[in-house]
Amino acid sequence: MEFAALVAISLLIGALILLVAVAVGKQKGDLSHETEQKEDTVVEEDGGKAPPSKKQKQQQRLRKERTQQHTFTHPLLASSLKSHSGNVTCLDFSSNGKYLASCADDRTVRIWSTKDFLERDHRCLRANVELDHATLVRFSPDSRAFITWLANGETIRVFKMSKKEDSSFSFKAAPEDFPVKHKGIVINIGIAETGKFIMTASNDTTILIWDLKGEVLASINTNQMTNSYAAISPCGRFVASCGFTPDVKVWEVCFGKSGEFKEVVRAFDLKGHSAGVHSFAFSNDSRRMVTVSKDGTWKLWDTDVEYKKQQDPYLLRTARCEVSEGSRIALSPDARVAAVSSGCNVAMFSTATGELEEEFHSVHSEEITDLKFDINSRYLVCSGDRAIRVFHNVPGYRAAIQDMQAMLKKASNEAMRQRLEQQIKDAQSALDTVFATSKN
Ligand SMILES: *[C@@H]1O[C@H](CO)[C@@H](O)[C@H](O)[C@H]1NC(C)=O
Ligand SMILES: *[C@@H]1O[C@H](CO)[C@@H](O)[C@H](O)[C@H]1NC(C)=O
Ligand SMILES: *[C@@H]1O[C@H](CO)[C@@H](O)[C@H](O)[C@H]1NC(C)=O
Repeated sequence: MEFAALVAISLLIGALILLVAVAVGKQKGDLSHETEQKEDTVVEEDGGKAPPSKKQKQQQRLRKERTQQHTFTHPLLASSLKSHSGNVTCLDFSSNGKYLASCADDRTVRIWSTKDFLERDHRCLRANVELDHATLVRFSPDSRAFITWLANGETIRVFKMSKKEDSSFSFKAAPEDFPVKHKGIVINIGIAETGKFIMTASNDTTILIWDLKGEVLASINTNQMTNSYAAISPCGRFVASCGFTPDVKVWEVCFGKSGEFKEVVRAFDLKGHSAGVHSFAFSNDSRRMVTVSKDGTWKLWDTDVEYKKQQDPYLLRTARCEVSEGSRIALSPDARVAAVSSGCNVAMFSTATGELEEEFHSVHSEEITDLKFDINSRYLVCSGDRAIRVFHNVPGYRAAIQDMQAMLKKASNEAMRQRLEQQIKDAQSALDTVFATSKN
């Protein structure tokens, strides 16, 4: 057990050191180009090639627009992804960790390569949303398709991603969109990691459960007056919602042995906030949840319970934070760090202590629309205007070091002690390097 954990942490620290080494090398090499190459170059794959003159004009226009863009710098900012020409409303990482999808009111969905986050150039692929724009986007579990919510069509459109010979993708919309069923404004969509269902949730308290072909399997009335957020748990078993009432409600979507849909049953509630809940998030194993409320706090919950035996989730921690009407909360997959947005600001907290670790002000020019950690707990990303900000999850690395220090105290044999000591030292100097060489 201890050994397995040690190996896992060694891997994490190994990745961290490598990542910092790459970043440092990159920055040294690039210093001389700093002034002439301030803007991100974007490589686009969008089928037809525009004639150069048109492209040049477009670039001039883009350059002009970009100079008018909101600027933000911070030592922990790893990069800013800029190629949307409209406000970005939603972000999603693919479960294989390779891609980040973003959608904006510029009628495009962009697919970014996560391994480029520390590069100067950020490649992205573009999928056009014909005659509409997507407000929400989610990858399918196999990372080979994504679903979008159409702002005007008010329904789901499915896009298939097929690999081309040059290993980029082409995107193809399914011949038919899902039927229109919602009356209220749709606030979130999701695909279960099991591939068994799709969820759409509107602010009028209706959640619909669909099969992958667009047939409605069930309709849930959340009875929360108005809903502000809803989502599927990463394990694909549960759907949860929050809104005007102070509780977060969780349902199980049940399927039979041969995969046929059976029913949706109430599983458990998170009870403890004293006012409406703006949003919530799960850890990647669905055993922890975080919630953020109008009552000015965020809470961490242990949801690893057997609700069928009447066990309730345990409240593990409550901490104060700045909140706004549209506050979002994100939990790192390893559950070590919670991030909360309030207006244009983001705060990062340790879940072990509840303490505020980092604060970023005016990250975007508009209210933050989405906030997510990548699947390896290395980065925090957020949207709010046309840019996507990518932050190093430094609080997560610090927490990993603290966990190693705790293991060191318990370590019984000398070899393990020495190894831990060396790893802590290396990780610490790697962290110092993030700050020392940060270009901002
Ligand atoms: C998008 O952002 C711009 C400023 O960057 C703002 O003026 C505009 O209102 C935003 N659009 C929407 C639909 O929120
Ligand atoms: C849903 O959101 C829309 C747009 O923000 C708003 O006009 C409407 O009143 C909301 N509905 C409920 C039930 O809160
Ligand atoms: C959760 O993420 C951690 C790394 O952050 C990974 O080691 C673990 O396998 C993931 N668990 C699941 C269930 O995906």
